[in-house]
Amino acid sequence: MGHAKLAWLRPYIRRHRGSLLAVMALAAATSVLAAAQPYLSKLIIDDGLIGRHFDLLVELCAAIVVLASCGFALGALNRLLYVRLSGKILFAIREDVYAHILTLPPRFFRVRPVGDIVTRLDGDVAEIQRFSTDAVLAVVNGVLLLIFSAVIMTLMSVRLTVAAACILPLHLLLRYRARRHVSDSTREVRESRGVITHFLFETLGAAKAVQSAGAERWERDRLGSLNKGLLQRLVRQQLVGYTIGALSGVLSHLTTAVVFILGGWQVIHGSLTVGTLVAFTAYLARGTGSATSLMGLYTAYQRAEVSLKRVQELRDAEPMRPRGGGSRVLEARSAPIRFQDVSFRYPDAGQMLFEHLTLEVAPGSKVVLFGESGVGKSTLVELLRGFAEPTCGAILLDCVDLSDYELHSVRRRIPVLETEPVLFRGSILDNIRYGNFDASADRVMEVARRTGVESFVFALPDGYATELGLRGMGLSTGQRQRIAVARALLGSPFALVLDEATSNLDAAAVGFMHELIDRHCGERTRIVITHTPHSVPRADRILELRDGSVHECPGAHAYA
Ligand SMILES: Nc1ncnc2c1ncn2[C@@H]1O[C@H](COP(=O)(O)OP(=O)(O)OP(=O)(O)O)[C@@H](O)[C@H]1O
Ligand SMILES: [Mg+2]
Repeated sequence: MGHAKLAWLRPYIRRHRGSLLAVMALAAATSVLAAAQPYLSKLIIDDGLIGRHFDLLVELCAAIVVLASCGFALGALNRLLYVRLSGKILFAIREDVYAHILTLPPRFFRVRPVGDIVTRLDGDVAEIQRFSTDAVLAVVNGVLLLIFSAVIMTLMSVRLTVAAACILPLHLLLRYRARRHVSDSTREVRESRGVITHFLFETLGAAKAVQSAGAERWERDRLGSLNKGLLQRLVRQQLVGYTIGALSGVLSHLTTAVVFILGGWQVIHGSLTVGTLVAFTAYLARGTGSATSLMGLYTAYQRAEVSLKRVQELRDAEPMRPRGGGSRVLEARSAPIRFQDVSFRYPDAGQMLFEHLTLEVAPGSKVVLFGESGVGKSTLVELLRGFAEPTCGAILLDCVDLSDYELHSVRRRIPVLETEPVLFRGSILDNIRYGNFDASADRVMEVARRTGVESFVFALPDGYATELGLRGMGLSTGQRQRIAVARALLGSPFALVLDEATSNLDAAAVGFMHELIDRHCGERTRIVITHTPHSVPRADRILELRDGSVHECPGAHAYA
């Protein structure tokens, strides 16, 4: 198992160098204040009580109160700075990783459950941030307090300090031996959480399908068994943490016992004052406390490292890279589309899907494409829109290679209408505008009028501002499809693809859709993928995709 590389976190920390230094300085000041306390109690016992100076006693008590108050004030200020700082770091990391994920190819989303991504983006990023900020405070506090305590203890009694220090290696050994258990138990818990998050996403996102299948009980039992697995892993994680804590507590008590026996012997024989022994044990408690928390940091680091690796895997996923990485913008105009000698095979598939496929689509024509399920119709569209790259051959848009274009413009100018339009939670207006965010409300409404959205929008309680539910719930399929058409037209398409867009609609609605598209998009190329080629009105050509190449079916006009 390789070590996680922390380098990528550096910029996030560096950006907040100033605040981080302030936090450290405040932590240092707090440590100094905390370190002064036991020494004051030594003075109270030895000089005030045993020396019988009541005035001094009162002054020392006042000093303790003042110091403690200052300590609390500084602590509060520090916490405030710390929360703001850690929040900023957390959100910056999360936004960057999220932005990266959105550049990843379809393959990534196919193999990786969305719940897994969410758990990494949410829980794991929080874990890293918690560690990276907590660690700073803990290290500053712990190291300073440890040094102060050790110095003062040595000044008070070298012999007792050496005796106490002898137990330290046992602490280190304990942490070292436990490291494998810590990272294993942490990773198991995080993985379990990912599985459960995904389960919830999948089943709640398709609650209706679950109900239709009468699978409510089954799914609940499935959650039950997933929870049972998580519980086992949580218990194991807790057990590991608790065992480490308990063993290190026993070691601390062992240290205290050794010091009391040795120191007590000295006090009884008059070579050490009571105040010194009391103060020494107080420093010892602080010293072992900071040593323990520094070693706890090692455990925390191992947990954070697990999360770090999980987030790093997301960051390291290869983004989609257009072949040429061109800068040309695809304009909305009537121009030919040409598949030239295209061969294609999915990276993880055995055999070629297309071999030397050539297809020329004339500007402004309406082409119907059909073929057996799984023959590669949708894949052809993926190639056309740069979601996949031909293994060899070229795709020419307006006589220019696809890879010379800026990918965004290609995808925006060649919208695809699918069987289930993708709508987002939000208003109808926002849903039409999706992808053309700068379109004015007037223009959106004008397009909505042309595409028949307006006719049903007026019947809705809030008109265009009506909020849609998840995936456009609350509208009929035909209505959702009209919104999708409006969205496509708003982007001034170069060409329009219908991939079984009308297969959920009745004959009248299909007729309406084609009427709409041909009327408003008649001068643009339209590619219609369907299983019922002869039901498509006004087709210029009918093509069959078979055995990895395209075959012309004569007589398209006969069905027009
Ligand atoms: N991302 C992918 N990775 C690997 N193989 C894939 C991928 N997507 C599709 N395939 C395979 O490629 C073939 C073509 O799939 P495609 O979706 O293009 O078919 P289709 O003609 O659109 O079928 P349908 O009419 O059922 O929609 C199928 O055998 C499918 O299993
Ligand atoms: Mg398909």
